[in-house]
Amino acid sequence: MISGRDPGSTVLVTGGAGFIGSHTCVELLENGHRVVVIDDHSNSTPASLERVAKLTGRAVTAYTGDVRDRALLDRVFEAQRIDQVIHFAARKAVGESVEFPLEYWDVNVGATVALLQAMRDHGVRDLVFSSSCSVYGVARRVPLTEEDPVAPVNPYARTKSACEQILADACRRHPEFRILALRYFNPAGAHPSGLLGEDPRGVPNNLMPYLTQVAIGRLDRLPVHGTDYPTPDGSCIRDYIHVVDVADGHRVALDHLADETGVRVRNLGTGVGTSVLEVVSAFESATGRPIPVTTVGRRPGDVPVLVADPSRVAREWGWRTTRDVADMCADAWRFQQLNPFGHAC
Ligand code: WQD
Repeated sequence: MISGRDPGSTVLVTGGAGFIGSHTCVELLENGHRVVVIDDHSNSTPASLERVAKLTGRAVTAYTGDVRDRALLDRVFEAQRIDQVIHFAARKAVGESVEFPLEYWDVNVGATVALLQAMRDHGVRDLVFSSSCSVYGVARRVPLTEEDPVAPVNPYARTKSACEQILADACRRHPEFRILALRYFNPAGAHPSGLLGEDPRGVPNNLMPYLTQVAIGRLDRLPVHGTDYPTPDGSCIRDYIHVVDVADGHRVALDHLADETGVRVRNLGTGVGTSVLEVVSAFESATGRPIPVTTVGRRPGDVPVLVADPSRVAREWGWRTTRDVADMCADAWRFQQLNPFGHAC
């Protein structure tokens, strides 16, 4: 807890009970902000917010509901005197978006439009938007800078790219808006306390929670989605970024919204690429747990390599990530051990 600071802004965090959202709530509360959360708990549990309160000694003001619900948004903006917004609430699995594209467009675009309308109507101009490295599609070069072309290749990524265009149109019409769209690479890991972590409903889509569930015996082996990619070991390479670094990056981004009006896009990554098989090996080294794997076919929507060039936020904000894949593996495993069946228990 940072003491002796001026009282921070009141921040509305949509999806605040989720994996990245809950970790961001901790960072905001510990740095003097007041936090209001809207979450429909479609991929989270209210228990996460109780743990945020336990970790920080401060509670969030929580509303259960759908960000597409304009009446709910109006109630929250009127009752809570919101200063700034962080918008996490979205469907976010590449593979799942191929199977359910219409739901992804409905939720991801619908919620963003409703939120911008509410911000416009209530005179709130500051927004940090959760975008994604997946908008780059099949990278023609790595590491990727914010100037590289956007060419999404799956419905999830296309919804995020569309949302970035919506933000740009909103800023052209309402020049008072101050928006940062953060293109996360691959958030992974957990809060070092073991109280917060990635706790998806059902079988995990993402690599790290799948690994921890194999390690604890809930799943029997890791399916590796393709080892025939044009990479050194044939498996896909990603830029894994510790979820606490992602959360801290959001806190810093809030402070930089005032730098200029309009929408700016910034990468949030480490600049380090790690293949699926290298993550498995790092996890086994960090935890001492053997991970049986089986190679299966490529997953629709996957791309071979996505690695960030993080130098722009380093230059502009003086901010860099501080944790590596070994930290992510150790922290994710600690969370899984302390929560064998997730947050709800
Ligand atoms: C990583 C690699 C899989 C599971 C994610 C989020 C997306 C965005 C970026 C924030 C891929 C492989 C996975 C498994 C596997 N985040 N894999 N077996 O798809 O890169 O995107 O981060 O915006 O929201 O979905 O992450 O962890 O699903 O996959 O082989 O059981 O691991 O094929 O190559 P992805 P992921």
